Parts: sequence; C-alpha cells; structure tokens
Amino acid sequence: MGCQAGDDGATVATRDQLLPGAFTADELSQIRNAVRARYSDTARSAEGKFKYPTGRDGARALNYDQRVIARMPDALIQSFCGVGNPFSLGEIEAGSAVLDIGCGSGFDLIVASGVVGSAGKVCGIDLTGEMIQQARKNFQFFGITNIEAIQVSSETIPYNDKTFDVVISNGVINLSPCKRELFRDIYRVLKPGGRMQFADIINEDKQSAVVGGELASWAQ
Ligand SMILES: C[S@@+](CC[C@H](N)C(=O)[O-])C[C@H]1O[C@@H](n2cnc3c(N)ncnc32)[C@H](O)[C@@H]1O
Repeated sequence: MGCQAGDDGATVATRDQLLPGAFTADELSQIRNAVRARYSDTARSAEGKFKYPTGRDGARALNYDQRVIARMPDALIQSFCGVGNPFSLGEIEAGSAVLDIGCGSGFDLIVASGVVGSAGKVCGIDLTGEMIQQARKNFQFFGITNIEAIQVSSETIPYNDKTFDVVISNGVINLSPCKRELFRDIYRVLKPGGRMQFADIINEDKQSAVVGGELASWAQ
C-alpha cells in the first residue's frame, strides 16, 4: 500500500491517477478519522473493545515483567491494547534512544524508560489526541522527564535522521494506509546499526469485497 504523498504528507492525485493500493487525500483522511474515532475512546479504557486480552490481563498474557505491571496504575494500564511484547524481541541497552510508533497512552514508553534509564531518551508518536493527552498525564504520574509524546501520523516522523537506536511499535503498523512511507521514515530516523522491534497483526482471512473496499474497515 502506498500514499503517493506530497511534501505535506497528503495525497495530491485523484483516484484515477493513482497506482493500485494508493489513496487520495480524501481517502487517507477518511481512514485516519475512522482510526481516531476508534482509539479516542480507547484512551480511557480498552476493556471490551478488542478480540484479544487488553489492559492488565493483556500485559500479563504477553509476558511483560510482572513487577512492572504491578507498578502501573489502572489509569495507565487499562488502555493498553498492544498485540505483542516488543521488548521480548531483543534487549535494549541502558542509555539508548527509543521511538514508539503509535504509542497510545504510553504503556510501552514507560516500560522503555525503565530500560534505558536516565541516560536514555524515549519518544512516542500517535495519531489520536486523546491518547497523547493520556500519555502525558501518565508521564507526570511517574515523574519521568526524559520522555515525550507527539500527536502526528506515523508516516511523517518528526525527528531528525539517525536519531534512534531502536524503533518499537505494538499493534499499529497494520493501521497505517502508508506502510511504504512509514518504513522509509523509520529507516531514516534509525541510527546506523539501529533496529526495529515491533509486534503486529495480519489478517489471514480473505476479506469480503465489501469490507475490503470500505475505508472505515481499516479501523476494525
Ligand atoms: C492497537 S493501539 C496500540 C497502542 C499502544 N501501542 C499500546 O500498545 O497500547 C493502536 C494505536 O495506534 C495509533 N495509530 C493508528 N494509526 C496511526 C498512524 N497512522 N500514525 C500514528 N499512530 C497511529 C492509534 O491512535 C492507537 O493509539
């Protein structure tokens, strides 16, 4: 899938000018609005909104460190809706700079901040304003200062080239209509020798023509 993005990240072509799998600006905006609508409410709680365990149960099922889970207040962990555990894919060194694509309300960012310590830096981006507001409240609760969260779509990562040692993501890349641009930008912000550690979902079922053609189905 591709965006055919212009300088501002928006698609400038009309549907009949686009390659298969690319989107017009209007289609991109419909997809992003559907995704935001789904996740703005999830910022308070993910309970009952997904087909897999979320919140504290989800974090336990995904083998996050039990001591870390125990320290997490309900207001933070109940909106956790990750699909895997990016930290299980490789050890992240103290002092590292880590970026989380689609950080939600900050569960993985706060886990990462414990791993990288005060010499490290942890940054998150997310499309949904409510998620970013909740993440900032959660940073304050923990008094963590070497951490930030910015509201932006993941295809235009607002950081300089070669900034991060590790890029993590948890259940987000499947939601991006601009995967090529997203991976390109992840490579851009990774330092040489840096790496990605992400968890995601793929759909192995054949989508019906109706669902597959509906822009809102990106958020389902
Ligand atoms: C399944 S939730 C995962 C949130 C978080 N990683 C966690 O584990 O709790 C998906 C998140 O991705 C964000 N998201 C979806 N599409 C995005 C995009 N194109 N750019 C940035 N964030 C996006 C949503 O707002 C939502 O917070």
